[in-house]
Amino acid sequence: MKTEHKKNLPVTNTIIKIAKPAAYVTLLLLTYTLGYFSSSTSSELDSFRVKNQCANPIPPENVRQTLINRIFNGVSPFTNFPPPHAAEKLRRSKEIKGWGSNGPVFERLIRKVKPRIIVEVGTFLGASTLHMAEVTQRIGLQTQILCIDDFRGWAGFRDDFKYIEILNGDVWLYYHFLQNIATFNRTGSVLPLPFTTVSALTKLCELGVWPDLVEIDAGHDFLSAWSDINWGFQILRPGGVIFGHDYFNGADNRGVGRAVDLFARIHNFKVEVDGEHWVIYSTYIQ
Ligand SMILES: C[S@@+](CC[C@H](N)C(=O)[O-])C[C@H]1O[C@@H](n2cnc3c(N)ncnc32)[C@H](O)[C@@H]1O
Ligand SMILES: *[C@@H]1O[C@H](CO)[C@@H](O)[C@H](O)[C@H]1NC(C)=O
Repeated sequence: MKTEHKKNLPVTNTIIKIAKPAAYVTLLLLTYTLGYFSSSTSSELDSFRVKNQCANPIPPENVRQTLINRIFNGVSPFTNFPPPHAAEKLRRSKEIKGWGSNGPVFERLIRKVKPRIIVEVGTFLGASTLHMAEVTQRIGLQTQILCIDDFRGWAGFRDDFKYIEILNGDVWLYYHFLQNIATFNRTGSVLPLPFTTVSALTKLCELGVWPDLVEIDAGHDFLSAWSDINWGFQILRPGGVIFGHDYFNGADNRGVGRAVDLFARIHNFKVEVDGEHWVIYSTYIQ
């Protein structure tokens, strides 16, 4: 065996000698190609990444008053609500229109995360807000729900909500939201932030408000969903959960789903689907 082996050695050596440069060239080409692909995709995607250092977290029990001071001049939006010019026009209804607002995903995640601070991005009339407020109270949590919405709805939404007044072209969605929160006695645990999503989210980042749970349900086009998800994740407490509605919505060629999938791919997160909702755990706590 040994002699046989020795006899074969020069042949093997020759093969190696010939094969070596070829292997090097192949390796070089492979490295170059892989490097080219990974560097081009990562640098292209880099331009889309939201990278920002938020302020150190303020204690959850200080969040509400800090926001009232810094955003509303020290006066809660619920103080002296409703104003006289709106009082008799606001409908006090216990039926509030929403979309998937009572889905089981809310209670499941609230039980899992036990949030002190929830940020809702896209609130409309408050159906999902009120559902979360009811769940947190029922399971004994002290939770503040911050509702980001410009309360403009969308152009033409009033076609389906004729009872919502228009005054000088101003649709009273905000007043109806405030009225709904007041009707259900949730004014102490809900605080609206009536601004566009990114403007409110960047302010929360600047103030050090770190929610445990972020719900995304505002614009359903790709770019809106993309910025809401990235900014929502930016302020999420490490270990928190971000989730949102309409993973399968067809708007903008499945804009929400595309944004969620791309976000998960970049961060190497898994997307969990729960009914119409998508869920991403910042660290896996299942
Ligand atoms: C589908 S509704 C939210 C429904 C609510 N989550 C529920 O379950 O009842 C979407 C809301 O997002 C708000 N919205 C859309 N784009 C926004 C933006 N760029 N800034 C602030 N709010 C926005 C609209 O005003 C609208 O009220
Ligand atoms: C809110 O509180 C008032 C006064 O305590 C009560 O009459 C009413 O039934 C409550 N509303 C709801 C929806 O629980």
